[in-house]
Amino acid sequence: MAISLDIRLKRADKIYCEEDNVTGVIVISSNSDFKHEGITLIMEGSVNIQVSTKNVGIIEAFYNSVKPIQLINLTCEVSGAGRLPSGTTEIPFEIPLKSKANRVLYETYHGVYVNIGYGLRCDIKRSFLSKDLQKSQQFLIQYRPGYNACPQLPLRDKRTPVNFELSPSTLSSGRTGAPDFLLKGVIDTVCCNISKPFKGKLVLVKCAVPVRSIELQLVRVETCGCAEGYAREATEIQNIQIGDGDAPQNIPIPIYMVFPRLFTCPTLITTNFKLEFEVNIVVIFQDDHLITNNFPIVLVRE
Ligand SMILES: *[C@@H]1O[C@H](CO)[C@@H](O)[C@H](O)[C@H]1NC(C)=O
Ligand SMILES: *[C@@H]1O[C@H](CO)[C@@H](O)[C@H](O)[C@H]1NC(C)=O
Repeated sequence: MAISLDIRLKRADKIYCEEDNVTGVIVISSNSDFKHEGITLIMEGSVNIQVSTKNVGIIEAFYNSVKPIQLINLTCEVSGAGRLPSGTTEIPFEIPLKSKANRVLYETYHGVYVNIGYGLRCDIKRSFLSKDLQKSQQFLIQYRPGYNACPQLPLRDKRTPVNFELSPSTLSSGRTGAPDFLLKGVIDTVCCNISKPFKGKLVLVKCAVPVRSIELQLVRVETCGCAEGYAREATEIQNIQIGDGDAPQNIPIPIYMVFPRLFTCPTLITTNFKLEFEVNIVVIFQDDHLITNNFPIVLVRE
């Protein structure tokens, strides 16, 4: 006997906001009728924090703050024990999205050390002679525009363009050997609407050696554990080349980067973990010399 189980969500993009109803159907197909011991649908959401091995020692001291944080845990009894007919059975469901008490449904986020995920799981229990059936279906949470899970964000009102200038004299010590150059630029804002591209422009005013590449690097900074100590990890999300080969002097080069779904989320600062983002502007000269300028940014859903 072949039984297949599926969970189909009504929304094709699978994106929901808190208090939306998650609707869909459980689809069960079988080539003959069969008995079951009950059908349940479970909605779960959690923040999972993993610590890099280099931090395992210090993390043991604050193990409690890296336990998964459960945001939703809802069990719906779809059906008691019974019999399903052969053919296809569709069971519609509708579950309001509500967090557990004192929790917030943070946006879905896939990081290296922090993951925030939501899903539905359908279980069909069977008698001891048959295997239980199980199927999972992920969905995504997004804030309603204007919702801010994090009122005390730094840079929040930094909506004005940020001018910057890079030259050997602006580089911190230890960067000796940089060729004589001057780069001027502007970033439209460091408080960024996550659904809009990151924009600005830069101009290479002068440079003593040819440039090989100009790159924009998007970095996530994940902090795990806050009250009792912490592990802070910066890792690259993506690297985009905005200038390939020897950049012409005194011609504006646009800075343009779309924030990738799932790998970014609105900046989040909580008592147990933080998700922050930065952009590096990297210039690589033909002689392999490399300079970097770092801009902490704030992402908001608005
Ligand atoms: C989720 O809820 C179920 C049933 O209410 C319970 O048995 C289970 O322990 C809960 N899970 C967690 C991780 O709290
Ligand atoms: C943020 O970007 C979205 C998508 O482009 C747009 O609909 C929204 O109006 C923007 N919000 C603000 C405050 O500019």
